[in-house]
Amino acid sequence: MKTETPVSNSGREAEGKMERAQRRMTENAANRIDRWYPRFHIASQSGWINDPNGLCYFKGRWHVYYQLNPYEPVWGTMYWGHVSSKDLVKWRREPIALAPGTEDDRDGIFSGSAVVDDQGGLCIYYTGQRWVNGHDDREGQVQVQMMARALDQEAAQFEKLGRVVAPPESQPIQHFRDPKVWKQDGVWYMIHGAGSPQGRGQIWLYTSTDMVSWTFQNVIFEDPDPDVFMVECPDLFPLTSPSGDTIWVLCLSEMRRNPDEPEGEDVVTAGYMLGEFSPETGFMARSGLHLWDYGHNFYAPQSFEAPDGRRIIYGWMKPDLSTPMPTIEDGWNGQLTLPRVVTLDSTGRIRTVPAAELDGLRGDSDRIGPVRVPADGERVICDDLEAGEVILDIDLKTSGFRTAGLRIQATPDGTYTSLSYDRGTCLLVLDRGQAARGDRTSRTVKLHSDIEESQLRLHIYVDRGSIEVYVNHGQEVLTSYSFPAAGPRGLILTSSGGDMALNQCTITAFDGIGLDDH
Ligand code: FRU
Repeated sequence: MKTETPVSNSGREAEGKMERAQRRMTENAANRIDRWYPRFHIASQSGWINDPNGLCYFKGRWHVYYQLNPYEPVWGTMYWGHVSSKDLVKWRREPIALAPGTEDDRDGIFSGSAVVDDQGGLCIYYTGQRWVNGHDDREGQVQVQMMARALDQEAAQFEKLGRVVAPPESQPIQHFRDPKVWKQDGVWYMIHGAGSPQGRGQIWLYTSTDMVSWTFQNVIFEDPDPDVFMVECPDLFPLTSPSGDTIWVLCLSEMRRNPDEPEGEDVVTAGYMLGEFSPETGFMARSGLHLWDYGHNFYAPQSFEAPDGRRIIYGWMKPDLSTPMPTIEDGWNGQLTLPRVVTLDSTGRIRTVPAAELDGLRGDSDRIGPVRVPADGERVICDDLEAGEVILDIDLKTSGFRTAGLRIQATPDGTYTSLSYDRGTCLLVLDRGQAARGDRTSRTVKLHSDIEESQLRLHIYVDRGSIEVYVNHGQEVLTSYSFPAAGPRGLILTSSGGDMALNQCTITAFDGIGLDDH
C-alpha cells in the first residue's frame, strides 16, 4: 500500500485556536490550587494532560510535548502542549505546539513522535482525529498519520504537511494511531497501533526513504491476548547488555475488554516484551509481557534516544478510574513520570532508573544512619517533606522484621500512604488504604527471592501529589498518585514482627523544575 504525497497545509486555521487555548489555559492557571501540583514532574499549567509525545533532543534542548486539553481538567479535544529544557533539570513552558485545524485533525491532535531529519530539521508524526458525526464516537472515527515540520530552532512552531498514512480503503479501521518513527540502516521506519477488523490489537510497520511517502510492510505484532482490541502508543528499540548481547524491546499500551464488565471501562496495561525484530519477519517475542511499572498510575510511555545513546522513557501517570481525581477541584489533571533511563542488566533483565540529571534538583539533605527501628516500633525521620527523595538501604541480613517500611505524607490528621516490604511473601506493597483523598487501593510487586541475601534499596521520589519508588537500582518501579491532607507531611519508619536495620537513610529536599509558577 502506497500513500499519496501529503497535501501541504500551513495550519493557519489552527493559529486562532492556539492563541485562544493558550489564553484560556493561562487564565485558568491563575486560579489553580497547588496543594498537590507537582514541583518536579511535568504537568500542564491548567487543564488535562495525557501521553508524552514527540520526545527529543534538538539543537541543544530537550523537548517534551504532551497530549493536552487546554480548556478543562478532563480529556477532550486534544492539542500538543510543550515544555523544553537545556539540562533535563530546569524546564521552560513553551506555547501550545499544535492545535486541531485541518480536515484530517479537526477533532484532535493525537499522540506521536519526533525525529531529526537528514537536513537537521525536526519532523513530527502524529495522529489526526476526526469524529464521523463531528462530536463523538457514536458513528465512528477516522484516524490517519500526519506529518509536521518545525519552523524554528526552538521547535516551538510547526508547519503541518498533512496526511502521510491512512487505513487501507478495504479495511476502514477505527483504531489506527500513535506513529513512532525512527531511522535504521538508512531507512525510515514507522510503527503505529491498530485494532484489526477481527478486534485484535496489532502493530503495523511502514518504511520510507523520503519521510513523506510511506509503504506498508507488514503487521509486525498481534497481541496474543484475544481480549486486547487495541495496542496504543507502540514503541520498539534495541538494547545491548553489558556483555554485548542485543535484544529488541517492544512497548505496548494495551486496551483490553473487561470480560467481567462488558459495558464497563476497558482495562489498560503498559508493558514490554523482549525479542527479535527484523522488518521482513516482524517482532518475535522471546518473553512474556512484563509491566513497566507496578504502581497505580502508569500508562502510554514513549522512549527516545539521548545524544549520548541513553534510552529514556517518560510515562503518563494515568488517573484512577475508581474515583474522580481530586485535582480536578484544583483546576488541573495529570502529570508525567520522571525521565527514566532504560537498560538491560547482565542477567538480561530490564532496569529503569531516573536520569542522573535529576540529582541536580537536590537541595538540603539529611543523612541518618545506621538506624535501627525496634520491633513494633516507629521512628519519625522527617517532619515535613513536600518534594524530594528518600533513600532507604535496609539491611536484610541483620533485620528481624516480618513487615517494615515507610509512612509517606503522614499528616497531623493521621492519614498517610505506606510503602512496606513483607519478607514472608517477598511482596513490596504501596498502600493508599489510609490516604487522605482519592482511590484507596494498594498495589504490590513481588521482589526476586535473591534479594533476601542482601540489602534492599528503596529510592523514593515524593512530590506534592505523587510517589515513585525505584527498587534495587530500577529492578522494579511503582508509581502512584497520593494526595495528602493539609499540614506538614512527615516520614515515619515502621517495623513489625522484629526490628529493622538500615545501613543508611537519606532525605533530600528538591528544588522545583521551574514549571509550578502560575
Ligand atoms: C493513549 C491514547 C492514544 C491517543 C491519545 C489520545 O492514552 O488513547 O492512543 O493517541 O491517548 O489522547
